[in-house]
Amino acid sequence: MYKVGILTSGGDCQGLNAVIRGVAKSLYEEFDNDVEIYGIKDGYAGLIDGEIRKMEPADFSGILTLGGTILGTSRRPFKMMRVIDDVTGIDKVRAMKKNYKKFGLDCVVILGGNGTQKSARMLSEEGLNIVSLPKTIDNDVWGTDITFGFQSACDIAVNVIDCIHTTASSHGRIFIVEVMGHKVGWLTLHAGIAGGADIILIPEIPYNIHKIAAVINKREAAGKRFSILAVAEGAISDKDAALKKKELKALRMEQNYPSAAYRIADELSEYITNEIRVTVPGHFQRGGSPCAFDRVLCTRLGAAAARLIKRRHFGCMVGMVNGRTVPVPLYEVAGKLKVVPIDSPLIEDAKDVGISFGD
Ligand code: F6P
Repeated sequence: MYKVGILTSGGDCQGLNAVIRGVAKSLYEEFDNDVEIYGIKDGYAGLIDGEIRKMEPADFSGILTLGGTILGTSRRPFKMMRVIDDVTGIDKVRAMKKNYKKFGLDCVVILGGNGTQKSARMLSEEGLNIVSLPKTIDNDVWGTDITFGFQSACDIAVNVIDCIHTTASSHGRIFIVEVMGHKVGWLTLHAGIAGGADIILIPEIPYNIHKIAAVINKREAAGKRFSILAVAEGAISDKDAALKKKELKALRMEQNYPSAAYRIADELSEYITNEIRVTVPGHFQRGGSPCAFDRVLCTRLGAAAARLIKRRHFGCMVGMVNGRTVPVPLYEVAGKLKVVPIDSPLIEDAKDVGISFGD
């Protein structure tokens, strides 16, 4: 009997359950039901603590549309993995290897973003059979064109911008909508374009506050009473981008803004006279059902993972490249960040329709 463990790690997103279902259903098919699937609770924490339970085929039914993760998740920073726990004295890597053996697992399927992929690589190098899958609303995992969760989060952010449009237009206000995305601008870029934002600010293109003010004033002079800014949570000004890491950290502590959108609102208020409002949808963007696109993507990624397991092809992440699922070696994926290329045709097209990036 083949035994497959499965865990979800890091921040949740839409589509985790759809992938779990895809992996499980395809495994039962591939192995003609001669397979047992073990759910590992709360990500790597469950593998460390031995919180592992055998799941039944019925556990994977009816979860395609369910948000969150039926397995639970937690953030276990990669840099702490090799650090012996002060209180418990637990050697986490040793404990994970021990539990892998104890439960007789033949491999572990790991669903996660960048931090998770680093730990997956480490476990693979430690001799565990690993297949990982690219999860995150940020779309910043290297080795795949798209991560699951991204499109669903994008749809929610677009919905927010759509709703903001009507109220912004009624009041003639400047609205700053802050979009998640951690250190990259994929989500803001896509949501901003789809939502018809006038200004899009992403970490990859440091903004100049005077240029943003000029765009707003120009719009006003042309009779446009409102403007909408889609701002990535990691957006940064050209001035701040020139600072050293330590200096920037100190500045942010001193400024003490709740988030980027509030900081930008404050900076902007010095140069424009319009009323400014801030909207931060936050974790709302990670909740609820996966959209149709993600359901298809998750099902395909899950099926591909099961095929790789059947072929005993381990030490890789399943990427979606040019519409095809491909195994990408974990040593290539881990530790790299997929940022928005500043020469991206998407940015060029956005600029051509008059969207400003504040540069
Ligand atoms: O990586 C997904 C993400 O939602 C980022 O966009 C965001 O910066 C971060 O997670 C928020 O993390 P947490 O759920 O720990 O607050």
